[in-house]
Amino acid sequence: MSLTEFSAGAPLAPRGVSLPKVTVPALGEMKRQGKPISALTAYDYATARLVDEAGIDLILVGDSLAMVVLGHENTLAVTVDEMLHHTRAVRRGTRRALVVADMPFGSYHGTIGESVANAVRFLKEAGAEAVKIEGPRVEFVRALVEAEIPVVGHLGLTPQSVHRMGGYRVQARSIDAVLQLQADAFALATAGAGAIVLEGIPREVAAAITAAIPIPTIGIGAGPDCDGQILVFHDLVNLTFTPPAKFVRRYGDASALFRSAVEHYREDVEHHAFPSDAESYHLPESARRLFAIDPDGAGARDNADAVVNRDAREEMNEEMNQA
Ligand code: KIV
Repeated sequence: MSLTEFSAGAPLAPRGVSLPKVTVPALGEMKRQGKPISALTAYDYATARLVDEAGIDLILVGDSLAMVVLGHENTLAVTVDEMLHHTRAVRRGTRRALVVADMPFGSYHGTIGESVANAVRFLKEAGAEAVKIEGPRVEFVRALVEAEIPVVGHLGLTPQSVHRMGGYRVQARSIDAVLQLQADAFALATAGAGAIVLEGIPREVAAAITAAIPIPTIGIGAGPDCDGQILVFHDLVNLTFTPPAKFVRRYGDASALFRSAVEHYREDVEHHAFPSDAESYHLPESARRLFAIDPDGAGARDNADAVVNRDAREEMNEEMNQA
């Protein structure tokens, strides 16, 4: 295993640029200043570090992890405990970005009391700085604000409603639906949500909502006029094994990179090309003689029978302790 640590005095992100910690009020300030908000999902320590050090403003531990990390067909199966587990890992890898945890399906659909108790766990046990919930759950948003829990709303194509919607379909395609969506966004903002994700809606609708409400909108498949943009990390780097949705832009091909690295490694192992002598640990020179190790490493083998007497073992131990 390799050891990865934040070295003392490491820059927060990106290198050489000192950026202040992103908070929910800071997102509102970015909207007021017309500064675009960048957001990505992450589900583990390594990707959270990469995303954070690249200067992304908001990291969402999305329930999309059910699909892209855990291999489920949709997002419904992931549990609070699984989300907490991944949120903790992301928390450990993040210094600057705002860490938002998705509340999974079923965790905020009972009583308000139970739902708030579940939300509390994300801040208390996993270090999230806000939770995200899907749908116009205005009363719950009010209760979260009352409980000092910052909340990000999510409207439009809400994946937890996949069965009600009859699939992943673009939403707000009738006048009534557009008016309802605008009213929902306004109600969430009034109830105290810190931002709203707008997913899978026409560009024009997202633009109108963005202009009308005082809190930031973060779009995914909602066009370029939102206050910020979010993508699923695995979509961004081609790790999803499915054709991308229309709104996805692939910025890298991790599948090709990982595949080639893994195949190359397998070939090297099969051809005795890995590890090399330089990638091996060695006994001190004098002890090597006792084992008759070929110094070139070719065909090296230990000869434990050479170390038959106690004196030789003690001599070797002494040398190794000094090495
Ligand atoms: O779970 C998720 O990744 C999300 C984003 C698509 C916004 O909710």
